[in-house]
Amino acid sequence: MSLVEQLPMNTPALRPSRRILITGGAGFIGSNFVHYWCKHYPGDRIVVLDALTYAGNRDSLADLIGQSNFRFVQGDICDSNCVDLLLAEEAIDTVAHFAAESHVDRSILAPDAFVRTNVVGTFTLLDSFRQHWSNRGKPESDRFLHVSTDEVYGSLGPNDPAFCETTAYTPNSPYSASKAGSDHLARAYFHTYGMPTLITNCSNNYGPYHFPEKLIPLMAINILMGKSLPVYGDGQNIRDWLYVEDHCSALDRVLHRSAVGETYNIGGNNEVKNIDLVTMICDLMDELAPNLPVRPAGELITFVKDRPGHDRRYAIDSTKLQTELGWQPSVTVAEGLRHTIQWYLENPAWWQPLLSAEYQEYYQSVYA
Ligand code: NAD
Ligand code: TYD
Repeated sequence: MSLVEQLPMNTPALRPSRRILITGGAGFIGSNFVHYWCKHYPGDRIVVLDALTYAGNRDSLADLIGQSNFRFVQGDICDSNCVDLLLAEEAIDTVAHFAAESHVDRSILAPDAFVRTNVVGTFTLLDSFRQHWSNRGKPESDRFLHVSTDEVYGSLGPNDPAFCETTAYTPNSPYSASKAGSDHLARAYFHTYGMPTLITNCSNNYGPYHFPEKLIPLMAINILMGKSLPVYGDGQNIRDWLYVEDHCSALDRVLHRSAVGETYNIGGNNEVKNIDLVTMICDLMDELAPNLPVRPAGELITFVKDRPGHDRRYAIDSTKLQTELGWQPSVTVAEGLRHTIQWYLENPAWWQPLLSAEYQEYYQSVYA
């Protein structure tokens, strides 16, 4: 059941239908966005382009495959032929670009894939869309939404004001540096070619369909398996948690209401220290999960070697989005976390196959 009851600004009856390409639609946020869009705009044509890397999962879209308004294409955003063909064949008027390598720890181990997909792939997509948009006569209503991260702004001290849209870019990890590069390209395509780009920078998302390598699912799954809960460093790092459906409703506002060329920050107003979040997860698991191998789950918490270059604090100021487009996050971290934990408890068939031999190898290399 949806936690976000706020209605989108554009009811289907009042808007012309769109033909939207969603890249990375088999990933965490992308698949949530696909579901959100199908639900709110059932008259739209929805095309997903996803390479199905380790992070992409067809099962996250299983209920949509076969629907007449939905198409899934397995393909690489770095493949300009594939992108050109798809844009033309489907007469795409809107791109929502989520495809990326997204995990900081993997970017430390092997940054090359991050530069390839996040920088070169975003460039390929922007340039294909430029040609396509031009071939279509540059319609005013076309949009290219580039989804990015607050990590491009670097790290905050405890008393620094939250990141706003004018905060200088200071990316610290190969992941955030590659996303910063892609943001600059998206901005340049607006300023140079007048292409109708939009950029959003959001804080840490959480919710259903989140790959097990990320903090929240990793802790929940480890508790179920009685494995230790690896908290990096002193656990005092702060993240601003955004429930994924709130993120989707913000992107909806930006796509429908923003002027072209704008950037919006999206945050959950939920700043939490890692150790406090892990403790909340342990408490929820103690309450909701039967037959835990170790109870209380908090006994599994283990402080481990810190992540190299670990950013201390992220916090988002989304005043611009709130005042200009009327968006508010509606899910508190307590509500969203409960819903998320319940989802993982009810859906082992989704996450168990992801704990593959390849994933175990990755896990060993980070947590050895
Ligand atoms: P994810 O890793 O769960 O999913 C990424 C998807 O992109 C996967 O389905 C993968 O198969 C696909 N993909 C990867 N390389 C591709 C390529 N070359 N061609 C086509 N598809 C490819 O990521 P996510 O967490 O859903 O993040 C989505 C977007 O949001 C990313 O751009 C990320 O930088 C951004 N973002 C994420 C968060 C977060 O908390 N998860 C926060 C801020 C911004
Ligand atoms: P993560 O989910 O990887 O997101 P990001 O690095 O993009 O913020 O991590 C969230 C926070 O949790 C981050 O400060 C790193 C920390 N963390 C741990 O302490 N242990 C872990 O095993 C993981 C995956 C993350």
